Amino acid sequence: MRRLLITGGAGFIGSNFVHYWLKNHPDDHVVVLDILTYAGNPENLNHVKKLSNFHFIHGDICDHSLVEDIMNREDIDTIVHFAAESHVDRSILGPDAFIRTNIMGTHSLLKAAKKLWVDTPGHENHCFLHVSTDEVFGSLNDDASLFSETTPYAPSSPYSASKASSDHLVNAYNHTYGLKTVISNCSNNYGPYQFPEKLIPLMIVNILHNKPLPIYGDGKNVRDWLYVEDHCQGIELVIKNGVRGKSYNIGGNNEWKNIDIVKLICKILNNMFLNDQGLKKRFPDAPPARGGKSESLITFVKDRPGHDLRYAIDAGKIMSQLGYKPKESFETGIRKTIEWYLDNEAWWQAVMDGSYQKWIDRQYDCK
Ligand code: NAD
Ligand code: TYD
Repeated sequence: MRRLLITGGAGFIGSNFVHYWLKNHPDDHVVVLDILTYAGNPENLNHVKKLSNFHFIHGDICDHSLVEDIMNREDIDTIVHFAAESHVDRSILGPDAFIRTNIMGTHSLLKAAKKLWVDTPGHENHCFLHVSTDEVFGSLNDDASLFSETTPYAPSSPYSASKASSDHLVNAYNHTYGLKTVISNCSNNYGPYQFPEKLIPLMIVNILHNKPLPIYGDGKNVRDWLYVEDHCQGIELVIKNGVRGKSYNIGGNNEWKNIDIVKLICKILNNMFLNDQGLKKRFPDAPPARGGKSESLITFVKDRPGHDLRYAIDAGKIMSQLGYKPKESFETGIRKTIEWYLDNEAWWQAVMDGSYQKWIDRQYDCK
C-alpha cells in the first residue's frame, strides 16, 4: 500500500490522475496539495472527496514548512509532482510565477523529500515522480525526427525553461543525495477538465459561443496529442517499475498540425449538431445551430513569439521497457473529450466567468 502526495491534483492532469489512481489502487492513501490557482478546481475532485483515504490540502508547494509537515504527518512514501504553471502564453506575458512555482516549488519538495527519505533512516522505499514535458527538448524540424530520452535539452519559452530547470534539479537530487527520483516527459495532453485556455478546449467552447477560433501564425505548427488517461497509465508504470534516476518519454505517436485539429473539431461538432436537436436549443449561437459551419469562425492571428514548430515523442523506451501502450485512439479520445465539454457546460462556464474564483474565496478563505 502506498501513501501518495499528489501536488497540483486539482488541475487538469493531476485530477485525472487522482481518479485514475484511486480507481486502480482503492486501498492507497492519497493526499492532494494544491494552491488552487485559476487552473486548479476542487470540483474536479468531487467524485473522490468523500473517500476516507483521500485528503485535500489547500496550500503552496513553495511553503517549505507546510510541505515538510505534510510529508511527516501523512507519512508520505511517494510524491507525484504535477503542480506547475503550465501555459506557454501566460509564461510569455509573465514569467515570474513560472520561475517561482516550477523551479522554487520543485526544489521545496525535493528538499523536504530528502530530509524525510534520505536523512532519516527507515524510508528507503520511496519515489519522487516528477511530471515533466517534451517541451524541454525545444523544437523539431518538419521532418521525421523525434524526441528521445537522450535528446539534448533546448527549451525555448519561459515555461519550458522553468520545466527544464526543475528536471535538472530532480536529477541533481538523485545523483548527489541518492533520492529515488524518476522523470516522465510527456507530449500535449487533451481530455476532461482541461482549462479552456489550451488549444482543444478553447476551440470547443469558442464554437459553442460563436467566438473566433484563433490560429497562431499559419496553423502549421505540429503537436503530438495524448489522451490524458493514457498519460496517467504511463505515470503509473514509471512509478511502479521505472528505473530510479532515469527519465521516460510518454506519447501517443499522434502528430497533428494545429489547423487540422481545429478543422477536425469543427467537423465533429457540425455533425453532432446535425443529429441532435437538443444541442441547437442549448447552444443557439453556435454556427451549426443556425445552419452554418463551425469552420467560419477560424481566424488566423499574430503568431506566438518564439513559437516552437514541432513536438513529437519517441515513446519506444517506455513501451519496450515498461510495457506501455496507449489505450485511446485519437478518434475515440477527441470525441469523448468533445462530449465531456458538451455535458459539463456548468464546469467550463464557471471557470471562465470568474464566479469560480469567488466560490473558492468563500470555500477556502483565500486572501
Ligand atoms: P494545470 O495548469 O491544469 O494544473 C496545475 C495545477 O497546479 C493547478 O491545480 C494549480 O492550482 C496547481 N498549482 C500551481 N501552482 C501551485 C503551487 N505553488 N502550489 C500548489 N499547487 C499549485 O496543469 P496540467 O496541464 O494539469 O499540467 C500538470 C503537469 O503536467 C505540469 O507540471 C505540466 O508541466 C505537465 N505537463 C502538462 C502537459 C499538458 O499537455 N497539459 C503535457 C506534459 C506535461
Ligand atoms: P497549447 O494548447 O497552448 O499547448 P503548447 O503551447 O504547450 O503546445 O497550444 C497548442 C498549439 O496550438 C500551439 O502550437 C499553439 C497553438 N494555439 C493556437 O494556434 N491558438 C490558440 O488559441 C492556442 C491556445 C494555441
